[in-house]
Amino acid sequence: MAFAPRLRAVARPSKSVSISVPIALLCFFALLGSVRHGRIRLLGQLWPNGRRCLPVTPPEYRSEIGRVLEERGYKTGAELGVKQGQFSVEILRSWPSCSRYVLVDVWKHQKNYKDTANVDDAEHEKFYQETMLVLSSWKEKLDVKRTWTSEAVKEIEDESLDFIYVDARHDFCGVYEDASLYWPKLSPGGIMAGHDYISWQELNELEAPDWGLCANGTFLEASVKEAVDQFASEHGLQVIATLEEWPSWIVHKPLPQC
Ligand SMILES: C[S@@+](CC[C@H](N)C(=O)[O-])C[C@H]1O[C@@H](n2cnc3c(N)ncnc32)[C@H](O)[C@@H]1O
Repeated sequence: MAFAPRLRAVARPSKSVSISVPIALLCFFALLGSVRHGRIRLLGQLWPNGRRCLPVTPPEYRSEIGRVLEERGYKTGAELGVKQGQFSVEILRSWPSCSRYVLVDVWKHQKNYKDTANVDDAEHEKFYQETMLVLSSWKEKLDVKRTWTSEAVKEIEDESLDFIYVDARHDFCGVYEDASLYWPKLSPGGIMAGHDYISWQELNELEAPDWGLCANGTFLEASVKEAVDQFASEHGLQVIATLEEWPSWIVHKPLPQC
């Protein structure tokens, strides 16, 4: 009988317990809510490098890639093949934290390349001027390399880029070579992506330009998708793609600590 009041006192939840349970639940759901579609704002602020470990959820359109770069806390990027700077504008608009964006394009007609973007030298000069104009608001961030991708790569430090977009030549040899040459330039946890993730068979169904011809004059019945898939399988990478008719491919460079 003498113990009864004490037992009752122990069993009654204390004020601090009744307050901390809802707070803990609130924190849990806030954290859960922030991990949505690859977005991880709160967790990212608490653990900045952790964002590099996260797998990339494929955006529906390539125009959303800039937002993904911003959310993952990336700062530096490169675009191989710029033409009139249309994609560069999309990226830089949605990626305000970018501090350096390398633009690589020879802006010059090429032999052995069948593509609508392979215009004559005069048209290329117009494209170059247009690019400089449309990107003038970001000129402090730009590092323009008007040369071949295989030359520009020599001026880029290893692991110095968080994002690389491969969109220069579209034949198997060109895509495979650019992906391989630039892979060491990508920082661990960074992403490499590129345009027109289309197979040889799909190209023929779309009556698209003839991307079978390589720069050295050889002809292969293969295109961007075959090159990316071969590159990814050699590096043990998973390829994800946007959902457009002309999709972009994306691969994530693993971080050893993830
Ligand atoms: C498809 S366009 C780029 C389009 C641009 N990324 C966009 O989405 O707005 C391809 C460009 O790559 C350039 N290019 C192709 N092969 C190249 C190479 N090996 N080195 C440098 N530039 C190259 C061409 O001059 C052309 O302007």
